Amino acid sequence: MPKVSSVYVCQQCGFQVSQFLGKCPSCESWGSLVETLGVSGTRHKAQSSKLGTKLPEVIELSKIEKTDYQRLSSGLPEFDRVLGGGIVLGSLILVSGDPGIGKSTLLTQLALNIQNLRANSCLYVAGEESAHQIKIRVDRLRVGASLQVLNEVDVDLIMGVIDKLKPTLVIVDSIQTLETEDLQSAPGSVGQVRECAHRLQHLAKKLHIPIVLVGHVTKDGTVAGPKTLEHLVDLVLSLEGDPTNNFRILRSSKNRFGPTDEVGIFEMAGGGMIEVKNPSKLFLEQRVEAPGSAIVSTLTGLRPLLVEVQALVTKSFLPMPKRAGSGVDNNRLQLLVAVLTKRLGLSLFDQDIFVNVTGGLKLTEPAADLGICMAIISSFKDKPLKQKTVFVGEVGLLGELRSVREISKRSAEAKKLGFNQVISPENAKSLSEASRLAIQ
Ligand code: TYD
Ligand code: MG
Repeated sequence: MPKVSSVYVCQQCGFQVSQFLGKCPSCESWGSLVETLGVSGTRHKAQSSKLGTKLPEVIELSKIEKTDYQRLSSGLPEFDRVLGGGIVLGSLILVSGDPGIGKSTLLTQLALNIQNLRANSCLYVAGEESAHQIKIRVDRLRVGASLQVLNEVDVDLIMGVIDKLKPTLVIVDSIQTLETEDLQSAPGSVGQVRECAHRLQHLAKKLHIPIVLVGHVTKDGTVAGPKTLEHLVDLVLSLEGDPTNNFRILRSSKNRFGPTDEVGIFEMAGGGMIEVKNPSKLFLEQRVEAPGSAIVSTLTGLRPLLVEVQALVTKSFLPMPKRAGSGVDNNRLQLLVAVLTKRLGLSLFDQDIFVNVTGGLKLTEPAADLGICMAIISSFKDKPLKQKTVFVGEVGLLGELRSVREISKRSAEAKKLGFNQVISPENAKSLSEASRLAIQ
């Protein structure tokens, strides 16, 4: 066995030193040295010395029988959908998200479901919480199944247990707490996180067991954050949501086994995460038809979602009238207000404008422009918009409406929920035409 030792490698220029330094002596960048495993002796041997050793085998793809990925159903259809049809055996999945967003809750549910469905063992490796704390959560979730919990942070011991138990699924909560004794740096440092994930990746592939890693997003994003892991894992999922309301969206930003444009929508309730089967209906439940309210069809992943945009336009007594958006980008809002002022001749210069997307959702696509503009016009004129109407379309600087993707899909969702008119670039060429159609 070669002697295992660690070296500090500069992430900018590749320079190696044997001890930690704040500044790289070679390229002079600060904080770029990361502890990495180095194997003294063999790794740098001349190539010629490898001649004569057994060479690795080259595989002819045409000789491999056509197969598909073996997938494990999680019992949560929303979760399976985001993964592209279930958890692929042997995959390493990273689930990231802000603290308290519900990662542990969702994954505990997942493990309990699999345990329940298949009566197979799932292993929950808890580096952050005690078994007792997990027991309290499990009781809260009220899924009649038990779970095997391992309170350990040494990755090599954990791998030993996985190898012995051969569970159906392993959940590691969280990767930032794991460490290997081969490196001296603290758990959570880039070197430790990367090395531990690397070892687990190998084990997942070798034993054909899916391993789910929980990763925290730190404020600055990069330091020991899941970013360093994204290249290494097969799937990157992120759980997003506004902590002030209950909706959570699970997105995949990398998927080696399927598409990345699906999202799962959940609601955090007292008894865990509940799948939201018909999100549009839920978002529109408490809607009142009044001036300033417009319905927008937005795409989350591949799914159209109807949401309500509310605007309040009121006389300002400030030297600089306020324009504030929640759930919409403030710069976009400023731009749309400028277009409305110039192209529709609305005198918004002395008006405070507030825009809010109900349900705590964020509208990021330009397809929501028309809806935002219509809500503002409706509030400014104090006239409600036509009933049962949905707005879709990007607004250009000239006041023209521009086409957006998947209009037919969005219209179909609107029809399904009882809206009989969709105002889009297909039936209105400009903002003024759209406003004529929607306000009598
Ligand atoms: P948690 O899954 O611990 O978050 P994370 O692992 O992402 O840090 O969830 C934390 C919050 O979720 C906590 O504020 C309590 C709440 N919660 C519920 O609302 N319902 C539940 O059934 C559970 C288990 C937690
Ligand atoms: Mg947690």
